[in-house]
Amino acid sequence: MKNLQKPFADQNKLKEAENFIRSKIGSFPSISIILGSGLGYFADKIVPSFSIFSNEIPWYPEPTVEGHKGKLIFGKVDNIPILVVQGRSHYYEGKSLSEITFYVQLLAKLGIKKLILTNAVGGINPELRPGDFVILTDYINFTQIEIFPGSKKKSPFSNSLINLAKRVALGTGIKIHQGIYCWTIGPSYETPSEIKLIHELGADVVGMSTVPEAIMAFYLGMNVLGISLVTNLAAGISEIPLSHKEVQEVAERIKKPYSVLSNAIIREIASNISDNK
Ligand code: HPA
Repeated sequence: MKNLQKPFADQNKLKEAENFIRSKIGSFPSISIILGSGLGYFADKIVPSFSIFSNEIPWYPEPTVEGHKGKLIFGKVDNIPILVVQGRSHYYEGKSLSEITFYVQLLAKLGIKKLILTNAVGGINPELRPGDFVILTDYINFTQIEIFPGSKKKSPFSNSLINLAKRVALGTGIKIHQGIYCWTIGPSYETPSEIKLIHELGADVVGMSTVPEAIMAFYLGMNVLGISLVTNLAAGISEIPLSHKEVQEVAERIKKPYSVLSNAIIREIASNISDNK
């Protein structure tokens, strides 16, 4: 499908949003984490210095899905300054590519250099179980919506951050996998036949977000790390019908390892930045 949409937000609107945030806060972190479906818990672990609800920010697209509260939280994790983005917009909400990636474009204006994108996924690879973490190495775009010409040249996920995350996970003893993310439009989950095809294409997990954001962030010069939480086995892999409730139950169960892992990754990224690595 040819993409006739413009992925870039109107520069005046972006500037207005940026000016609004800059009028509220003086200094900006260089690391940001976006919390995916059911993963908002992490936000409770940060020491907030300042929060802005996204509906206060001029032109910021308000997420409308249950479990996706829109908020930017400036704060610290283990004394490391970080910007936590709670709530993202999805294509299936009828949002445009520029709306979905608006927050990424705003983060770039605010000087974010390292972006951790977290999300909930269905597990396709038979080794995966609900509650597992998967570090993303690449993506398959099942939607065929091109974000912008040339965006397919390279995986947007940073090899050095992938290696960092694997090393950190080893140190914490939390088991992680690595794999390829398949982006589907949603909002319906896939059919078992679609999952069979997606598996044959080489994907390990499937989800409805992240790809446009990762591509935009990469394009804007950020180092991107993608961390997926397997909240369910994809359609046809398990007998049990899928539900948003199930997604949230698993997210509840992994609260502890999730925050240990993400905090350790953030610490390591921050120490690499300060070492200029
Ligand atoms: N499919 C697509 N998106 C998802 C799934 C799934 O099974 N689980 C969580 N997000």
